Amino acid sequence: MIISVTAPRKGMGQTITAINLSLFLSKMIGEASIIIDMNRYCRDIEYYLSNTDITKGLDDYYSLSESGLLTAENFKTCVKKVCDNIDIMASNECFELGSSEIENLLTQIGSIYKIGIIDTASSNTNAITRTVAGKSHIMLAVVNQSRNIVQQMLKAPEIYNVKHMILVVNRYRKDVGYDIRDIKYDMQNAGFDAEVFPLNYDIDIINECNDHSILNYVLNNESGQKEYMAQLKALAEYILEAAGIRSAVRKENEYRNIGILKVLPILNAYFQKS
Ligand SMILES: Nc1ncnc2c1ncn2[C@@H]1O[C@H](COP(=O)(O)OP(=O)(O)OP(=O)(O)O)[C@@H](O)[C@H]1O
Ligand SMILES: [Mg+2]
Repeated sequence: MIISVTAPRKGMGQTITAINLSLFLSKMIGEASIIIDMNRYCRDIEYYLSNTDITKGLDDYYSLSESGLLTAENFKTCVKKVCDNIDIMASNECFELGSSEIENLLTQIGSIYKIGIIDTASSNTNAITRTVAGKSHIMLAVVNQSRNIVQQMLKAPEIYNVKHMILVVNRYRKDVGYDIRDIKYDMQNAGFDAEVFPLNYDIDIINECNDHSILNYVLNNESGQKEYMAQLKALAEYILEAAGIRSAVRKENEYRNIGILKVLPILNAYFQKS
């Protein structure tokens, strides 16, 4: 499943949302996911998640693809593992990605990973953002709790008013007047009917970003009481359900819980003998 993340304006928190969601989803499905940085103006996946200058990414992919050398094995050389649960592809610096390269890349990602998250440039006019949004299974639009920002999104229905759009209201605070109900009301008036998920404002996120340890936020708060984590879980569950992945994972876990996975080989051996 390909999830694209975008926003009508810079600085809404789309990269942090992409990272936290990716880590959370990976843990839920028990497999690594990949984050691809297609926001070459910020390169902030690399900034937040990589501690070396040598980061593998879209330029390596482009070179291999153009020279006809791209194989599943070679693909690994374009990817950097930043933890057990997340691989990243840094954004392109040298090459321009066209529509067909993006299409091929998304197909490749879909054949290797259960979940690929693409962080795109925040803009209502960026061609790559539009291409990726159109080709993804789910598009997350990230806004803040500001009527002005929400209006910017509503003014671009050709990008955002699509069936696979989910709205994330990031840095959400209950004490701010313009709340989820108002946002839903404005969306309805503009003919939008997407699901809306708040993610709370949390000072610990800022601290972890400043310390270059953003992965710790999800890892350290998994079993805690933070409302942000409960909200992230609700968003992740909705996405997995929409993609039909959650029911499969749930079934596997249920079997595991009642020990069927352990018992199956014994039963098989028994029936083979008899
Ligand atoms: N839920 C949150 N609570 C508090 N701070 C947050 C939250 N989400 C993001 N931030 C802070 O907002 C800042 C910007 O976040 P981020 O880099 O994700 O924005 P962005 O939308 O990707 O920006 P750009 O458009 O420049 O790429 C970060 O310093 C981060 O700490
Ligand atoms: Mg960003």
